[in-house]
Amino acid sequence: MKLFTEFKIKSITIKNRIVRSATYEKMADDDGFVTEKLINLYVTLARGSVGLIITGNALVHLSGRSAPKMLCIHNDFYVEGLSKLTKAVHEAEGKIVIQLNHGGRQCSSLFLHGSNPVAPSAVYEPTYKVMPRQLTNEEIWDIIDSFGKAAKRAKEAGFDGIQIHGAHGYLVNQFLSPYTNRRDDYWGGDEERRFHFLEEVYNSIRDNVGYDYPVMIKLNACDFIKGGLTLDESLRIAKRLENLGIDAIEVSGGIVESKPEERPVRPKIDSKDKEAYFRVFSKEFKKNLNIPIMLVGGIRSRTLAEDILQKNDADLISLSRPLIREPDLPKKWFKGKDLCDCIYCNGCMRFMKLDYVRCTQLEKKK
Ligand SMILES: Cc1cc2nc3c(=O)[nH]c(=O)nc-3n(C[C@H](O)[C@H](O)[C@H](O)COP(=O)(O)O)c2cc1C
Repeated sequence: MKLFTEFKIKSITIKNRIVRSATYEKMADDDGFVTEKLINLYVTLARGSVGLIITGNALVHLSGRSAPKMLCIHNDFYVEGLSKLTKAVHEAEGKIVIQLNHGGRQCSSLFLHGSNPVAPSAVYEPTYKVMPRQLTNEEIWDIIDSFGKAAKRAKEAGFDGIQIHGAHGYLVNQFLSPYTNRRDDYWGGDEERRFHFLEEVYNSIRDNVGYDYPVMIKLNACDFIKGGLTLDESLRIAKRLENLGIDAIEVSGGIVESKPEERPVRPKIDSKDKEAYFRVFSKEFKKNLNIPIMLVGGIRSRTLAEDILQKNDADLISLSRPLIREPDLPKKWFKGKDLCDCIYCNGCMRFMKLDYVRCTQLEKKK
């Protein structure tokens, strides 16, 4: 089975093809510091044979806080706790990458001490019902710098690599997308200028961690919104990133305004036609690029995961909800289990109501 063969991303040797896709846990403390609970979760995932763990999105700049109790890395004070986390995962023979993020317009002012969220342009955000404030040139450079500094801290803390969150309608995606970027300056106006923010973020990261350190990205193949990113442009973005030296791309799609059945975390994956919902896109990424491609979204069985790898539609299989339900799913798959227990009810997504992210179906069973 290809699923249980080794894979390399630059300096990281991954023992199988199974990745834990970045999943916000609401398990950091109120100030975003690592807790024992978070360490225990990651150790459980490592012991469950997850090949590569990607952390929940971690905050690089205070103006981009998108959720309470999210992991933070915007300050040197966080390095100590993060080092404890990587040490514990490595002792459990796991590999761990941190996802760096700025929420941009997809933040509530509740998480920003009452301030208005910031964005490339003032485009109304319907979930939190806010009109974000357009970022100034100076503020943009400050955020770019914060991605670089966060990456440096991640390397210092012992992470095996970093992943830029360039998907799901957060700040990097907001700059890339013509739907949210209406600027007409260095940062927007045409495709090339909309790419500048990500290019500068990437360069700032490389300046801080060098070229030997694994730097990956999660990217929207399509925003699923009128006037948003389409596959053609996403492929050109991916090609540009490949030329710059990115080490892997995780293929996702959708933003908050997309219809529920077109969002990143689609509900009710209960039939074969709904499974692996970004596979058509990862297939195109594989055809057009020569770097490792991860596929995420609705991959619910071992047979399907293996088929994706065998047909060369992706190099790595990324899972979020199935691992919330069963953190040892890779071990179970190895022993022959096929369908995961997750029913994609999205109870785990109601994190404002939960004290931490967990499978709400399991609770019902108790
Ligand atoms: C509770 C929850 C939190 C999530 N947090 C993140 C996150 O921090 N960063 C990210 O890129 N995606 C996040 N996602 C999206 C997942 O990584 C993944 O792209 C999506 O759930 C589809 O994969 P799945 O069908 O295996 O769940 C989250 C999903 C869930 C359910």
